[in-house]
Amino acid sequence: APPPDCTLVIFGATGDLTHRLLMPALYNLGRWGLLPERFSIIGISRSEMSSEDFRRELTETVRGFITAKGGEAGGGGFDQATWDGLVGRVRYMAGDLSDPATYQTLKEHIAEDSGAQSGGNVLFYLAVAAPLFGPTVKRLAEAGLMAEGEDRWRRVIIEKPFGHDVASARDLNREILTVLSEAQVFRIDHFLGKETVQNIMAFRFGNGLFEPLWNRDHIDHVQITVAETVGVEGRGKFYEATGALRDMVPNHLFQLYTLVAMEPPISFQAEAVRDKKEEVLLATPSGRPEDAVRGQYAAGRVNGEPVRDYAREPDVSPETRTETYVALKLGIDNWRWAGVPFYLRTGKAMSRRDTEIAIRFKQAPLSLFHGTGVDADVPNWLVLQLQPDEGISLQFGAKVPGPAVRLGAVDMRFCYKDHFQIEPSTGYETLIYDAMIGDPTLFQRADMIEAGWRIVQPILDAAADGTLGPSPYEAGSAGPAEADALLSRDGRAWRPLGRPA
Ligand code: BG6
Repeated sequence: APPPDCTLVIFGATGDLTHRLLMPALYNLGRWGLLPERFSIIGISRSEMSSEDFRRELTETVRGFITAKGGEAGGGGFDQATWDGLVGRVRYMAGDLSDPATYQTLKEHIAEDSGAQSGGNVLFYLAVAAPLFGPTVKRLAEAGLMAEGEDRWRRVIIEKPFGHDVASARDLNREILTVLSEAQVFRIDHFLGKETVQNIMAFRFGNGLFEPLWNRDHIDHVQITVAETVGVEGRGKFYEATGALRDMVPNHLFQLYTLVAMEPPISFQAEAVRDKKEEVLLATPSGRPEDAVRGQYAAGRVNGEPVRDYAREPDVSPETRTETYVALKLGIDNWRWAGVPFYLRTGKAMSRRDTEIAIRFKQAPLSLFHGTGVDADVPNWLVLQLQPDEGISLQFGAKVPGPAVRLGAVDMRFCYKDHFQIEPSTGYETLIYDAMIGDPTLFQRADMIEAGWRIVQPILDAAADGTLGPSPYEAGSAGPAEADALLSRDGRAWRPLGRPA
């Protein structure tokens, strides 16, 4: 059903996020009939521009983007009528976010758009640099724009980085929660917009089959991998100050980690789900530097294309010590998981793009096939392949045909594309829709953000004081040798990257 009538205010309207993701996502919601009946969009940025010019600019970029995507997925191309209906509701205003007058003008526009004196429901999207989150929210509140009433809600969406360590994350939460209630804040992690990520809970809690096995009695260990082939792609300045750990781990990888490790929630109500995810983080002791590996790519080839040293990328210091790869061993101190290691890794410029959760089950208690051939012990793996080649596979041993008794590894596979037609989308559709209907299940609560940073803080500290890496790895490889050692010292090994599900 369409969400309630509202106004969407986008701060940072001329930026990349608005053009590449937000507007295309709204267009898709429009195509699916999932926009509010009475809906308007107010875009704000610093540059002077007419609404007409802004609409023209949006039309050009979004059409290009949709056509490219639709083409890829064999989808239906660009639906002009839907777009016209959407872009016709957009207006632009130039404004300086540090000037209180901007918020007064905004208030008038909102009242006009909603036709209500009180201004009706408003969703503020802060598509601006992170240092502006706190001050902007404060000014919105000071201008009376965040006050909710019987007839209206007021919400803000922000997206990472939520601070850069424990202390700054706490400060940001405090700054925001001084003027807003937690229920008004929607902290996006775009991984939760992915169908395959949402499916983790469906897979675990919609099926009776695996849940009895989902614990320390049957699971040997878990590997969570987010490998990318891209390097820093012109984002040198951002990346140099951030690194793989901050960019990916306390946010995206911890989403996957908590979803796979959480206890069953008592319902799918937002707080029931978020409480269980939070408990995983609370039960995770902070990472130890000796259980972590930082890596940095050196020249190599990715997909046949030459890649230079990370240190030679634009806007990167030649003496850089920023990591482009990180691997981490964590554990969870609760009854389900005591003694089961979780190995997490993520990196840029790796051999294959591959986001997966791989669950390794324990071997059979006794092998009856000893001495029957080299493949006697086939490991049982359950692999949730999140992207690309979305699917789920289960590996087990089967008898290789022939007179000798020999086991070989075989797979049972589910591929999304065989069963579902997934519409081309940005991954933001569900998240924007949920914010409009006020469902925070797929968003981060303040305490989850702080718990995530607490776990990685010792690694950040060891990186900062120079006692932990980074070790070089060749671009186009599977990461540094030290990461292999992290597992081999436990008698285990990483799965090869990019094995199709
Ligand atoms: C972003 C990171 O949050 O996630 C990027 O800043 C990373 O560095 C991206 O490439 C990965 O997202 P996806 O959806 O492409 O897997």
